[in-house]
Amino acid sequence: MDFYVAHRVPADGEDPVLVLFLPEGDGPLPRAAAAVDEAVGGLLSRVRKSGEFPGKARETLVLHSTAKRGPRRVLLAGLGRAADLTLDGFRRAAGAAALAARGTRAGEMSIVLPATDRAPRDALAAALVEGATLAAYEFRRHRTGDDAVAEAPLARVTVVEEETSGREALDRGLALGRVLADAAAWARDVGNTPGNEGTPGFLAERAREIASESGMRLTVLERADMEREGMGGILGVARGTLEPPKFIVLEHNAGKEDLPCIALVGKGITFDSGGISIKPAENMHEMKFDKCGGVAVLATMRAVGRLRIPLRVVGIVPATENLPSGTAYKPGDVVRSLGGRTIEVLNTDAEGRMLLVDGIAYAKRFKPRCIVDLATLTGACVVALGDAASGLFSTDEALASALLRAAEGSGERAWRMPLYADYTEQIRSDVADFKNTGGRPAGACTAAALLQAHAEGTPWAHLDIAGTAWTTKDRDYLRKGATGVGPRTLVRWLLAEAGR
Ligand code: BES
Ligand code: MN
Ligand code: ZN
Repeated sequence: MDFYVAHRVPADGEDPVLVLFLPEGDGPLPRAAAAVDEAVGGLLSRVRKSGEFPGKARETLVLHSTAKRGPRRVLLAGLGRAADLTLDGFRRAAGAAALAARGTRAGEMSIVLPATDRAPRDALAAALVEGATLAAYEFRRHRTGDDAVAEAPLARVTVVEEETSGREALDRGLALGRVLADAAAWARDVGNTPGNEGTPGFLAERAREIASESGMRLTVLERADMEREGMGGILGVARGTLEPPKFIVLEHNAGKEDLPCIALVGKGITFDSGGISIKPAENMHEMKFDKCGGVAVLATMRAVGRLRIPLRVVGIVPATENLPSGTAYKPGDVVRSLGGRTIEVLNTDAEGRMLLVDGIAYAKRFKPRCIVDLATLTGACVVALGDAASGLFSTDEALASALLRAAEGSGERAWRMPLYADYTEQIRSDVADFKNTGGRPAGACTAAALLQAHAEGTPWAHLDIAGTAWTTKDRDYLRKGATGVGPRTLVRWLLAEAGR
């Protein structure tokens, strides 16, 4: 989907599909809409008066015009009540408009950005690109024949605006929106890749592409390297699979010691069967999405490189499968993490934390200003928050609020969760420093507590994306499957950290 800007009077063109965003209610039509209404012989005001288009959020209506001049079709898209409009509300409306415009099979749409003082123009432009691109996203790689290609994709989107004075903000917003939408769509593609194809080696290949595109340093540790380093956590999990594990490290602005450093760590379990503590068969296939934290980190690195963000950013993805076998790690085993802590394995299905602790310990070598990890870590987080929000845990107030602000800007909700000392007590082991589960109570919090113990000394935040990384229902600009959660928020946060 390509985005353009055209400076002309929206009512004067002969656009195949002209999208007008309208707030709910029977107030006067916005200025551009009123001019279009006149061009198409009062069609809009008739429809408004009839009550056919109340302008509720998500609502769309396509009108054909037979007038001599003006657009051939007008696509009305509801914004809901003007006083309640948020940036994400506009992103959702843009997504709904894109799907309705695709339904016309015109292959293109022109849009008039809503006049609102609730968001700056550049943010609106970025949200337009994100909403339209992500709503129209499809994963067709494993379809064949006629089904392999979309029938009538929405290829062109033109923002039509008479005034030229806002052009710079518009271009800036569209450019940022492209990078963010592209990062999320890339994350969806990699996230949706099934376990037989989307192996740890596949993730390492994707990292190699990112490194060569943006000139990043890439280090991929193999099993033997991990043994030499003493990464007992990931190695324990990887004992059960013949698929070679990979410990992936991407460095943006490597060696530029004068730049502040930020480390990102993502859980890269390419399939989680539970291991010896095997999961029930029902819905086990969804565990191909257990790599989505790692994928979010890779997608973020890709965008960071494209935007040349002036920070040193290290992206770390410990990647392996979690399978049962004759060599698999077992309940009762004790392993030693890279951080030198011993962990008693009580449940082999609590594997994410086993690799994250090695990832976090490795991240500390870069002496980062802070560490942020993302992981589809616990079913308990899904019990607590559902798919409405990711769980945010942090030892640092400023870091937590900066991440919450960025999440808000992206429409990716995060909800702060506690890190009481009780949770660390709950994972003390009788035979080792820690055990890898604290039982059912506060499962998301005790998992975070083990990570916290390894991040100790460095400001750290953890996003449990177990409920938000994929969806089984189409919703707004999310399509069934991987949602691509993470990169849009992380990139917005990193831009703010860099003062952009
Ligand atoms: N990948 C799962 C967490 C998960 C479960 C994410 C369902 C999304 C949906 C993780 O590795 C896991 O299995 N966690 C266990 C931990 C337990 C054994 C302490 C869980 O949450 O049940
Ligand atoms: Mn598991
Ligand atoms: Zn898992």
